[in-house]
Amino acid sequence: MTKAEQIFQVENLAGLRRIGVLTSGGDAPGMNAAVRAVVRTASFHGLEVVGIRRGFNGLHDGDMDLIGPRDVANIIQRGGTKLLTARSEAWRTPEGRAQGAEHLRHWKVDGLVVIGGDGSFRGAHLLAQEHGFRVMGVPGTIDNDLYGTDYTIGYHTAVETALDAVDRLRDTGASHERIFVVEVMGRHAGHIAIEVALAGGAEEVLVPERPKPLAEVAQTVRQSQERGKTSSIVIVAEGYPGGTDAVARAITENTGEETRVSILGHIQRGGTPVAHDRVLASVLGQAAVEALLAGRSGEMVGEVCQQLNYVPFEETWTKRKDVSTNKYRCARLLSC
Ligand code: F6P
Repeated sequence: MTKAEQIFQVENLAGLRRIGVLTSGGDAPGMNAAVRAVVRTASFHGLEVVGIRRGFNGLHDGDMDLIGPRDVANIIQRGGTKLLTARSEAWRTPEGRAQGAEHLRHWKVDGLVVIGGDGSFRGAHLLAQEHGFRVMGVPGTIDNDLYGTDYTIGYHTAVETALDAVDRLRDTGASHERIFVVEVMGRHAGHIAIEVALAGGAEEVLVPERPKPLAEVAQTVRQSQERGKTSSIVIVAEGYPGGTDAVARAITENTGEETRVSILGHIQRGGTPVAHDRVLASVLGQAAVEALLAGRSGEMVGEVCQQLNYVPFEETWTKRKDVSTNKYRCARLLSC
């Protein structure tokens, strides 16, 4: 081993020999980069890796195989997840989880990396609690709604995709002098909405974290028309109370202007991951394996202010990461 290689060595305090990796919940661009990082870090440290297909469904069904560094070649730039993913019903029952644990024991897996969002971490937490497995989580969701990390893998790509769509809608909206109400993803969170609204120069942004009366929304749009704007873009997070259609109706009723609703939907989950997501996925995938080696378990590893940050699984859903008030204010102030 060269001197340069020695600095990468991590002591295998947990005595691991073989780990598993799975992706779970909604896919996010950059998940492949995270899988690659897990497999290659494990291999570097002398561990074998079992790739589990279709998230916890695959664990439940025993759908897994040994994979090595060459199996994850040429995927760092690909959207989706090569391991496939699912939202698992089977994992909701103690019996389902016991069956999955049995498969892990059969495959002699003594540590697991789960790449996903809060639902996936609930599943990971139960596996660790009920069956004593060592599990580390890597935050992969476009929603960016996990406490304990500044950003989640996939978020920046989703923002770029949504922003590209908003720019296009702005062209047609300006040409027809129309009001566009654009729904972006975010089941319970407005991170994508605020970022896209600010970067896209939207006239209004509505997020579940800052609900307001629809009459006020309509008034904002009317006032921007009175200031001479001939078209407007209103960004609505998917999880906004009452829904996007109600927002559009309220605007039409209050302004007398036609609106068009555009729901961007799942296109935001696809596509080539941007550099930020690939880098974050690589760093956190490596960190998760090295955390397992160091004896850590039951945590998600995220990044806060460019430092690795470890948070117990439960905190990722019991504590709330608020949207940025600065960005929210800025988006609204600059739309004047
Ligand atoms: O993964 C997060 C997310 O994309 C949310 O923004 C959205 O509400 C949800 O997943 C959609 O899930 P599904 O793909 O199961 O319809």
